[in-house]
Amino acid sequence: MKRRNFIALVGTSIAAAPVWANVYNIQNPIQKAIESTFPELPYAYNALEPTIDAKTMEIHYSKHHKAYHTNFLAALKDSPAAELDLKSLFAEISKYSPAIRNNGGGYYNHSLFWENMSPAKTNPSVVLKGVIEKSFGSVDKFKEEFANAAKKQFGSGWAWLIAGKDGQVFVSSTSNQDNPLMDVVEKKGTPLLCLDVWEHAYYLKYQNRRAEYVDNFWNVVNWDTVNKRYENR
Ligand SMILES: [Fe+2]
Repeated sequence: MKRRNFIALVGTSIAAAPVWANVYNIQNPIQKAIESTFPELPYAYNALEPTIDAKTMEIHYSKHHKAYHTNFLAALKDSPAAELDLKSLFAEISKYSPAIRNNGGGYYNHSLFWENMSPAKTNPSVVLKGVIEKSFGSVDKFKEEFANAAKKQFGSGWAWLIAGKDGQVFVSSTSNQDNPLMDVVEKKGTPLLCLDVWEHAYYLKYQNRRAEYVDNFWNVVNWDTVNKRYENR
């Protein structure tokens, strides 16, 4: 079902865990995550230390992400975009206002980002590892390409691992809060892994050393989530 009213239930309370889990699986009824009260972070603010410090995580989640959520809901009010599910909206985001594009992307991208990090040590599944090796030559080569995309993204944006329609995977970067589901980006596909390279994501700890932040990111990647996204794409 494509058309949904995902602002109808703003302010209602729902169980956080299942709804939050739906965010990375765009095939599920994602509108509840947007309609609901702001979803919980899946770990404590200090859980990813020393890679990401608690203060950065707190500000990033409770201020930046929260603002995207609030402003997205405000931008949707009285817009026909409110009748779409998120995937359909992103697929025609060029028709809508910068406020919807930037805040919708900001809301969704951060939801993906929290979920693809974890303090637990995880690994790519056999299936995903095979796909990565086929696409990049090796997992190390993939990491190098992904890290380069993150380091070279000019200004604010994101680095991505994406699955294409044929099941192959590739890397891209996007500006601002754009993502691979949007019709405005060059490389489109299903997001599997993302890294926020806005300065607000790392500046308190790393200052201007984005490359160090990017290299440390591998310490906290939640491959279990990435594996699931690939299975569910
Ligand atoms: Fe961010």
